[in-house]
Amino acid sequence: MSNGWTSNDIPDLSGRTAVVTGGNSGIGLIECRELSRHGARVILACRDEQKGDAAMAEIRSQLGAAGADAKIEVRRLDLASLDSIKVFADGLTSDLDEGLDLLVNNAGVMATPRLMTGDDFELQIGTNHFGHFALTGRLFELLKARPGSRVVTVSSIAARAGKLNFDDLNGRNRYGRWQAYAQSKLANLVFALDLQAMISEAGLDMKSMAAHPGVAATNLTTAGNSLDSGLMGLLSKPFLKLNDLLIAQDAEAGALPVLRAATDPGLAGGSYIGCDGPGETRGKPVIVAPRKLALNREIAGWLWQASVEATGVEYDFNPVTSKP
Ligand SMILES: NC(=O)c1ccc[n+]([C@@H]2O[C@H](COP(=O)([O-])OP(=O)(O)OC[C@H]3O[C@@H](n4cnc5c(N)ncnc54)[C@H](OP(=O)(O)O)[C@@H]3O)[C@@H](O)[C@H]2O)c1
Repeated sequence: MSNGWTSNDIPDLSGRTAVVTGGNSGIGLIECRELSRHGARVILACRDEQKGDAAMAEIRSQLGAAGADAKIEVRRLDLASLDSIKVFADGLTSDLDEGLDLLVNNAGVMATPRLMTGDDFELQIGTNHFGHFALTGRLFELLKARPGSRVVTVSSIAARAGKLNFDDLNGRNRYGRWQAYAQSKLANLVFALDLQAMISEAGLDMKSMAAHPGVAATNLTTAGNSLDSGLMGLLSKPFLKLNDLLIAQDAEAGALPVLRAATDPGLAGGSYIGCDGPGETRGKPVIVAPRKLALNREIAGWLWQASVEATGVEYDFNPVTSKP
């Protein structure tokens, strides 16, 4: 591994089943392709099934001859809707007899204008954190049923600048699009590390990991702003495009920290995988240090409780007693 961990280091994943949220675009699409290339059954969890089908066709074609037999499927999941999350999770629970080996909490929106979900969450904390918190909780029994299962939650270097607004997670009183993004990505990191702490305390044979892709050229940099037809949207688009051209690594490189967190057998639970380059913006996938605040159990406990209250989803940390 002298040149760094690459997707060639992914072990054989035959017999394993993986769910990747937002698997139709950006780093998620590459994660799905590589998990599939190494033998996993891969479920692309997408809010737009047409986009999911197009991504599945692209993955099959990129896999060449092996693509025709690859076990890939698309299922609808809108993380901005607690109802959609329940329908998705109920469907998987009735269909996956053997349980689930890997959940990649990858989907995300960035720097959107102030918008609320149908459940009255601010869109970024609602999609990026509450949605994945609810999804992981609803799939927890399936994950517990498989020895050595993993949950990988995708954070960001933006988490470093994030603050959890204890009084107003949904930004009702004051809203900044970038602050809301950074808060949601900090919540992703706090959640991933806290989940591992709770898994360890309960003695479960599972791992929760965090990862970030550095800065990667994907649809993320334009999707959020494209929701904004105002001056801010117009002004920020060329800046973000320039950012993609000058700073960003490609999506292939951006996917590697997530893939390593998902598959490297040597990693301890609670590892955070990012990039080894300047400011962790690019480079090879390596273990990086989370900011101290993300390891604070008191803060994590507060966020956990707030997330249970917001979503109505509780986790069962007792060992699995019967098949799901
Ligand atoms: N790119 C970067 O530089 C960067 C840096 C740090 C962290 N990240 C993180 O990396 C992850 C992947 O982003 P990306 O860069 O690959 O961006 P992307 O190309 O825009 O992909 C984002 C994915 O999330 C999906 N998504 C958004 N809202 C959703 C919802 N309500 N329900 C289900 N899926 C939803 C999108 O679906 P549609 O295609 O339907 O919109 C898309 O598939 C995100 O969590 C992001 O915060 C990215």
